[in-house]
Amino acid sequence: MTKPNLLSGMQPSAGSLHLGNYLGALVNWAAMQDSYNAFYCIVDLHAITVPQDPSELRANTRRTAAQYLAAGIDSDKSALFVQSHVPAHAQLAWVLQCITGMGEAGRMTQFKDKTQKNGQESASVGLFTYPILQAADILLYQPKAVPVGEDQRQHLELTRDLAMRFNSRFGDTFVIPEAHILKETAKIYDLQVPEAKMSKSAADPKGLINLMDENNVITKKIKSAVTDTEGSVRFDRESKPGVSNLLGIFSLISGETIPALEARFEGQGYGALKGELADALVAHIEPIRNRANELLTDPAELDRLLAEGADRANELAEQTLAKVYERIGFVRAAR
Ligand code: AMP
Ligand code: TRP
Repeated sequence: MTKPNLLSGMQPSAGSLHLGNYLGALVNWAAMQDSYNAFYCIVDLHAITVPQDPSELRANTRRTAAQYLAAGIDSDKSALFVQSHVPAHAQLAWVLQCITGMGEAGRMTQFKDKTQKNGQESASVGLFTYPILQAADILLYQPKAVPVGEDQRQHLELTRDLAMRFNSRFGDTFVIPEAHILKETAKIYDLQVPEAKMSKSAADPKGLINLMDENNVITKKIKSAVTDTEGSVRFDRESKPGVSNLLGIFSLISGETIPALEARFEGQGYGALKGELADALVAHIEPIRNRANELLTDPAELDRLLAEGADRANELAEQTLAKVYERIGFVRAAR
């Protein structure tokens, strides 16, 4: 039986993934690769919708790939590839831009959020059309499932709308993809501002644990995490966001349930919880970091793996694009 296709993507916009990316996305992506024919795309075209330093972008693209592989994306099972290695993404994006209304694109809340600080005048047109490129990323691979965080729901709706519109105007071409929204419980919060989600744009670097952080840095960040003055280890997201976040992380890392952890730390202070959590995180992250660093010592081999992934991606993407060009009425070049 052939497995259904799956596609997801992540931007290479930082030198390290954080614990939110890891527990919220990566662990699920690794788990899904057995039951799906998975395509995982490092979206460098999306990264340049905001200014990037070229040498950092190049380094971050390889660092992102290395961390995905180190954390369990298996390049034999899944196609791990770089978006700019597959020209069909930009090509299909153009076609989709031509069936998207200005008003429709203008309703995307991520664009509004991202331009709130500096205003829309200085934002790039690429940032405005970002969700249409994302739709192209998805539709090229005819995926049944697209695992993403809650914040991507609107982009998935646009993708489905564009797919249905194309299909009804030009004939059945695209599979209509389903958003596979990852569990809310996998949401990780900032260690310093535990009401906010852990994010690379955090004001204070102590708020996030990075997969590439050294052991002593991980321990220090956990020990300085914000808690409360009550002193009892108990899960209550409303009144104890800091302690609840630590319990949530501990549970995801160890596989123990939150009630079991509450029972284990009953009568002990936050110091005991933080000490054990720091040790558990270090034990979990150290081998991933070591493996990622090892992969990064051989960029030629890493590039070879990415080229293999791109070959697999190109094969399917070109088929879909050829169908689109045919349906839309382009004369194909005679060979
Ligand atoms: P981003 O860093 O926003 O490009 O996100 C990459 C992936 O990580 C997306 O699937 C997000 O939903 C997920 N993610 C980012 N931050 C968190 C977080 N704090 N908790 C859980 N998942 C997250
Ligand atoms: N916009 C997504 C994010 O910010 C990244 C992304 C780009 C993506 N293309 C995609 C996610 C295709 C899923 C499918 O997280």
